[in-house]
Amino acid sequence: MAVFRGIFLGLVVVTLVFSATLSAAHLDGFNFGSGGSQTHDLFPQFYQSSCPQVNDIVISVLQRAIEKNPRVAAFLIRLHFHDCFAQGCDASVLLDNSTTRISEKGAKPNVNSLRGFEVIDEMKAKLEEACPLTVSCADIVALAARGSTVLSGGPDWVLPLGRRDSKTASFESSNRDIPAPLPDLSALITTFERQGLDETDLVALSGGHTIGFAKCSFVRQTRKSVCPRRGGDNTAAPLDFVSPTRFDNSYFKLILGGHGLLPSDQVLLTGNRRQAAELVKTYAANESLFFQQFAKSMVKMGNISPLTGFEGQVRKNCRRVN
Ligand code: HEM
Repeated sequence: MAVFRGIFLGLVVVTLVFSATLSAAHLDGFNFGSGGSQTHDLFPQFYQSSCPQVNDIVISVLQRAIEKNPRVAAFLIRLHFHDCFAQGCDASVLLDNSTTRISEKGAKPNVNSLRGFEVIDEMKAKLEEACPLTVSCADIVALAARGSTVLSGGPDWVLPLGRRDSKTASFESSNRDIPAPLPDLSALITTFERQGLDETDLVALSGGHTIGFAKCSFVRQTRKSVCPRRGGDNTAAPLDFVSPTRFDNSYFKLILGGHGLLPSDQVLLTGNRRQAAELVKTYAANESLFFQQFAKSMVKMGNISPLTGFEGQVRKNCRRVN
């Protein structure tokens, strides 16, 4: 009996020591996640002890960048979307071409279109000074997207962290998995469903078009006053011409008035899906419902297939693998 009690006590002690070690490691910025897309792998306090100033550093770089160029906020919200939809939220979109890699930057949805890379570089450089090899580029992109939303007047949210950076990029995934701005609502819904996002996420996240611009090559028909009838393909027209740098619900009001900028925007109302059309009306009427859902859907999007634990790496320079 005494022998059994000894073994039992021994087991209890070993278990306690093991779990204490694991939670200390967690606080140190190491996440023993099982990988894959389980949302519990990421958690908001990930950098609490390893880099508590991470968000302050991101926001201070962001504030200065937006002062110089107000379009930066839109660049960075879109960057997070294009990162997450191609191979998961792993900063694959930031990798430059190399002898062994074709960068996602050259893929059709990104080339001459996706911007903000220099701002991420600056955030990374400042973070490397403050907390070397600690904060992943994928988390910087997620923090920058949230900061950009808040600084433009939109909602704030609690952001799960702990993503790690990929060692690969996927040019094919960018071309295949980032939706084209076409008026095909079923295709848009399918593209979102492949990422685990539903019709509500599609409508709410499309509300990201409340700030930013699109090239006339995409929007000649809907922005006749800004875009020349021919040529000027690269001229920029505001997505939300009422308040192009303010994060609000005027995007949905414009769609209701028939002034959605991209065909993929207007089709949310006209695409014969009751739920999508109702949501456009709801968000046009009630900004705070839009803000709540946008925040929820951004968290959901930010949880698409993150690398965690010992997967991938924390890059020193976001443009190349270590
Ligand atoms: C639903 C499918 C979507 C399609 C088809 C789409 C397509 C586009 C296109 C074609 C542009 C213009 C790019 C250019 O002219 O260079 C654009 C801009 C933008 N998109 Fe989307 N988008 C979608 C969803 C999203 C989502 C989910 C977000 C973020 C939550 C987002 C954020 C933005 C922002 C902020 C801009 C402005 C960028 C700038 O000013 O440079 N988009 N989008």
